[in-house]
Amino acid sequence: MSAEENSKLKGGTRKLRLGVNIDHIATVRNARGGEHPDPVAGAYAAIRAGADGITAHLREDRRHITDDDMERLQMLCDSENIPLNMEIAAVEDMVEIAKRLKPHAVCLVPEKREERTTEGGLDVAALHNTITPIVRELTENGARVSLFIEADEKQIRAAASSGAPVIEIHTGAYAHALDDGDEKKAAKILKAMQNGARLGTELGLEVHAGHGITFDNVGDIAVIPELYELNIGHFIIGEAIFLGLEEAISEMLRCMDDAREKS
Ligand code: PXP
Repeated sequence: MSAEENSKLKGGTRKLRLGVNIDHIATVRNARGGEHPDPVAGAYAAIRAGADGITAHLREDRRHITDDDMERLQMLCDSENIPLNMEIAAVEDMVEIAKRLKPHAVCLVPEKREERTTEGGLDVAALHNTITPIVRELTENGARVSLFIEADEKQIRAAASSGAPVIEIHTGAYAHALDDGDEKKAAKILKAMQNGARLGTELGLEVHAGHGITFDNVGDIAVIPELYELNIGHFIIGEAIFLGLEEAISEMLRCMDDAREKS
């Protein structure tokens, strides 16, 4: 782990890394075709603003990020020495693309064509026999593999036994419960995420979290001590309309650091 990754905040808490997901810059570009706004230029601006990594999801229907974007992102991240986290479905075609591109990290996510965004975590417990060889293949090819899962004991144990070194806990249900004003449900999910991060760490996994994170809900997630990284996309790109991308990222980093410093 680099010195930067290991850096400490006031009070000695470990600083959380921020992976910025730039998919929705491509969504805006694709609304009109053409090349503007370019997600790779967005990734460059995100790196300048302090992103610790870039995340992009190459979906099977290519609704936002394209193969060409992914190749250019890999070149950019290589030259900037910044980790690229490529999200893919656990299917052969995508695994082959990831093996050819060789991003720093590959995050396996569930994918349905009809969904608007990733809904729920990967059912690693049910798909263990499919996921485990993919984890091995990608790991042997040099990627740090993470599995996007719910904060559920069965899923966390299955992820650990698949050989993946990293899990990303799905925070979307927590964000939705808060949006719906269902504080009881949100508190229950938060507790599950806290327990899940602890269990994952005990099992030797590095624990990340992401989905639906905003300035308002990031605090209670960021203070979970076992977390190493948050992956945030839609809110940051949306907020960039009002603040600019660099300020939206700086403000998110401030929210994360403030929450951890106070914890
Ligand atoms: N993590 C994973 C695994 C995802 O699939 C996504 C959405 O692409 C995110 C994080 C980011 O979610 P959001 O765009 O809601 O911040």
